[in-house]
Amino acid sequence: MFRDDLLAGKTVLVTGGGSGLGLSMSRKFAALGANVAITGRSAERLADAAGQISPGGERIFTHPCDVRDFAQVEQMAAAVTERFGGIDVLVNNAAGNFLSATEDLSPNGFNAIVQTVLNGTFHATLAVGRKMIEAGRGGSILNIVTTYAWTGSAFVVPSAAAKAGVLAMTRSLAVEWATYKIRSNAIAPGPFPTEGAWNALMPTPELEAEAKARIPMNRFGEHDELANLAAFLVSDGAPFINGEVVTIDGGEWIGSGGEFNGLTRMPRAMVKGALQAMRGK
Ligand code: HXC
Repeated sequence: MFRDDLLAGKTVLVTGGGSGLGLSMSRKFAALGANVAITGRSAERLADAAGQISPGGERIFTHPCDVRDFAQVEQMAAAVTERFGGIDVLVNNAAGNFLSATEDLSPNGFNAIVQTVLNGTFHATLAVGRKMIEAGRGGSILNIVTTYAWTGSAFVVPSAAAKAGVLAMTRSLAVEWATYKIRSNAIAPGPFPTEGAWNALMPTPELEAEAKARIPMNRFGEHDELANLAAFLVSDGAPFINGEVVTIDGGEWIGSGGEFNGLTRMPRAMVKGALQAMRGK
C-alpha cells in the first residue's frame, strides 16, 4: 500500500509499543523505514517485542517507563532523543481498561485508568512536544482513542471519560501547536482483538458474539488495517490533516444509532418482502 521508505528518516515513539495494537503499529512503522522507540512498563516485554519488530535491528530502541509518572516519561523521551537525535512522531497508545459497574468502582480504580490514559497521554505529549518545539522541525502526534470517546459507554466510565479528554486534547493542540508545525490527530478503533483488550473487555464467548453482531461488516478489525491508517496519518502523505479523528470500526458506532439500522440484522429477503408489501398502502 505504501512505498517502503514512507517513514525513512523519521523517529517514531510508541507508548505501549510492547504488545497489542502498539506492537502492530511499531512493526509497520519499522517496515516503512522509521526508527522506532517503544516504551511500556515491562522491560522484558519490550525486549521481546523489539526482537519481533526487527530481529537484531539497528533502528529499534526500547526504554521502559510507566506513563503515569512524568519523571519517568521525561527520562524516556531524553533517552530516545539521545539514541536517534530527535523524535518526529509520538503515538499515544498506552491504555488500561476494565469492565465494572460504576457503583462498584473505587476512586483508586478510576485513577488507575484515568492516570494511564489521560495523564499518561498528557505526560508523553508534554515531554515529547517540548522537544519537538525546541528542535523546530515540526512533528506529528497520534492519539489512540475509541468511538465511545464521544458517545460514552456503560460499564467503562473511567475509560470513556479519559478518552473523551484525550480527544479534546487532540483537537486543542491541533490548533495551539500548529504554529510549531506539529499536527495532532486521533484514531478511534472499534474492537480489534488483542490479548489485553480481550482479557479485560470480552469476558465470555457470548459477549464476544454480541460485540461482533453489532458491527455492520460482521467481523472484528485486523491489526494491519489499523497500522496502515496510523502510518498514513503520521507520514508526510498527510501534511494537512490536523485535528481529525478517524474512525476505523466497520461501521459499528454509527450503526448503533440509526432508527431503522436494526433491520439490517434481519434476513434481507424478509425485510424486502415486508417493504414491498407496504408499497401503495
Ligand atoms: C474493578 C478494578 C479492576 C476490575 C483493577 N481494579 N481491575 N476494579 N474491576 N476489573 C482496581 C483495583 O481494585 C484497584 O483499586 C485499582 O483498580 C488499581 O488496581 P491495580 O491492579 O493496582 O492497578 P494497575 O496494575 O495499576 O492497573 C490496572 C489496569 C491494568 C490499568 C486495569 O491491569 C492494565 O493496564 N490492564 C491493561 C488492559 C488493557 O490492555 N486494556 C486494553 C485497553 S483497550 P483498589 O481501590 O482496590 O485499590 C481500550 C479500548 C476499548 O481501552 C475499545 C473497545 C472497542
